[in-house]
Amino acid sequence: MSFPSQRPRRLRGTDAVRSMICETRLSREQLVLPLFVKQGRAAPEPVASMPGVFRWPVSGAVELCRKANDAGIPAILLFGITDAKDEEGTAAWDDGNVVTETVRAIKKNAANLCVMTDVCLCGYTSHGHCGVLREGKIDNDATLDRLSRVALCHARAGADFVAPSDMMDGRVGHIRAAMDAHGFADTGILSYAVKYASAFYGPFRDAAGSAPAFGDRRTHQMNPANAREAIREAVADAAEGADMVMVKPALAYLDIIRRVRETVNLPVVAYNVSGEYAMVKAAAAAGWIDEKAVVLESLTGMARAGADIIITYHALDAAGWIGEMT
Ligand code: PBG
Repeated sequence: MSFPSQRPRRLRGTDAVRSMICETRLSREQLVLPLFVKQGRAAPEPVASMPGVFRWPVSGAVELCRKANDAGIPAILLFGITDAKDEEGTAAWDDGNVVTETVRAIKKNAANLCVMTDVCLCGYTSHGHCGVLREGKIDNDATLDRLSRVALCHARAGADFVAPSDMMDGRVGHIRAAMDAHGFADTGILSYAVKYASAFYGPFRDAAGSAPAFGDRRTHQMNPANAREAIREAVADAAEGADMVMVKPALAYLDIIRRVRETVNLPVVAYNVSGEYAMVKAAAAAGWIDEKAVVLESLTGMARAGADIIITYHALDAAGWIGEMT
C-alpha cells in the first residue's frame, strides 16, 4: 500500500461530508438561560462585569422569558436579588419575595417554559455565606431546614425544578423529603452536585451581591484539583433523589463532565459560568476573538464532553446562531 494509507482529510473535503460525519450537534433545546431578578420596579441594571446581562424587574424578566421561549430555549434558571438581608437569610423563603413573584408571572405569560430556581442563602444573608452561621462557621444541618423552606417556597410558586447550589451535605435528600411531604412530588431537583470553589464566579457575585463578607467557600465547594471527589458527590446526589446533576464551572472541568456522564445515568448539566462569559465578552469587545465562533466552539466542547444541558448567559445569542445553522 502506498503512503499514506489513511487520508482523514477525505472526511473533511466538503460541507456535505463534514456535516454527515459531525459527531456533536448543538441544539437550542439543550440551552438554559440564567436570569437575575431584582425586587422593586426600577429599570434594568446592567451588570458591569457581564456585558449584555441585567438585573431585571419582574416585568422585564417576563419579557425576556418570552423572548427565550420564542428563540426555542426550553428553560430558564432564576436568581433573586434583594436588599432585605439578615443573618439567616429569611427573605429567601418569604412567599412574597421576588423569585416567587417572577415564577408566578412567568407561569402566567410564558407557560411552556420550564422554570428552574436557584436555591441558596448567600444572596439573602447579611454575611453572604451559603448557610446559617454558628461561631463564624456554616452549620450544615441547621442550614438544611432553611434550604428546604426555600425549595418549598419556590415549589409553591410553581417552579418546575429547584436547583440547590449551596453544597451542604445531605440537602438533596432533605429537600426531596420536604417536597414529597408537602405535595410537590412532581417538582424536580437539579442538583449543583459538583460545584468547585472557583474564581470564575466573580462576576456573578457582583451581579447577585452575594460575595462572602469574610472568608471563602472552600469548606463546602470543591477543590479544583479533585476529580474522584466529583464522582462521590454526583453519586450521592443521585442516590438522594436528584433528577439532574450539574458540573460547574464548565470549561476548566470538561474532564469532570465526561467522568460524571460515564458514571451517573441522569441528565448531566454543565454551567458555563459568569467568569467564562466575561472573558469571552471582554476579548470580543476588544476585537481579539470572534465571539460567535468562540461561543459555539465552547458550547460544542461542553456537549462533546457529555453535557446534555448547558446553562449559559450566551443562551439567547447561541439559540439564534444555532438557528442560522439548521
Ligand atoms: C450561589 C451561586 C453562585 C453561582 C450560582 N449560584 C455563586 C457562588 O457559589 O458563589 C455562580 C454562577 C456563575 O458564576 O455564573 N451559591
